[in-house]
Amino acid sequence: MINLVIKKQDELFKDIAQVYQEQLKVKANSILGLATGSSPIGLYEELIKLYNKQEISFKEVITFNLDEYCNLAQTDKNSYFSFMQENLFTKVDINTQNTNFPPTDEAKISEYETKLQENIIDIQLLGIGSNGHIAFNEPGSNFNSTVRIVDLDEKTIQDNARFFTSVEEVPTQAASMGLADIMRAKKIILIAIGENKAEVLKEIFANDEITNKIPATLLKNHPDVTFYVDEVAGKYLK
Ligand code: F6R
Repeated sequence: MINLVIKKQDELFKDIAQVYQEQLKVKANSILGLATGSSPIGLYEELIKLYNKQEISFKEVITFNLDEYCNLAQTDKNSYFSFMQENLFTKVDINTQNTNFPPTDEAKISEYETKLQENIIDIQLLGIGSNGHIAFNEPGSNFNSTVRIVDLDEKTIQDNARFFTSVEEVPTQAASMGLADIMRAKKIILIAIGENKAEVLKEIFANDEITNKIPATLLKNHPDVTFYVDEVAGKYLK
């Protein structure tokens, strides 16, 4: 069953930040699965505020990011590596040696998978694509999928074009954790913000169906998953 919280954005981010604060109080060396994109930015801002007030520390935290674009240098401003430096890592006391990103080099993919299997994630953070993808597990992905290079869905390329100067510049492939990797996490937090997530959320909550046409429906099988949805994205939900 998916727990659902619908609130104003700023309240949502405060609620989620509190979950992280409590987690890190109990286990300072927690293993966190992290996401990029627009949805988690407000949460990262809240976490930075808590850090500045000395109410949270990332000193011992280990992180694994969900995905990374292929054919973009790490230093490119659109790489997910750069995103994490800019929006969180350089603003808190994390040891960057404890931060991990999926390699876009096929030969190194299995190392990331092995590391993930050895480090069970305490809290996995997710956004959701307007097509129902989680990480870059696009519609049609196998429920047993692990870390791999994926072709991005046309919808994802269109949606992410807003970060680039033109749609042609959006990478067409990415390295992504698989659905099996995500489901192994002890707790899952999914953030859905904005109008273009309303339709897919409506479909997910319409019934009990689990289908890889909407990969996020697989989360219905997870024992501890909460969707944090703003009022616009949740307009069709009760
Ligand atoms: C990003 C990721 C993606 C995004 C999703 C939503 O690391 O895994 O699944 O969470 O595409 O992106 P935004 O939040 O930009 O709407």
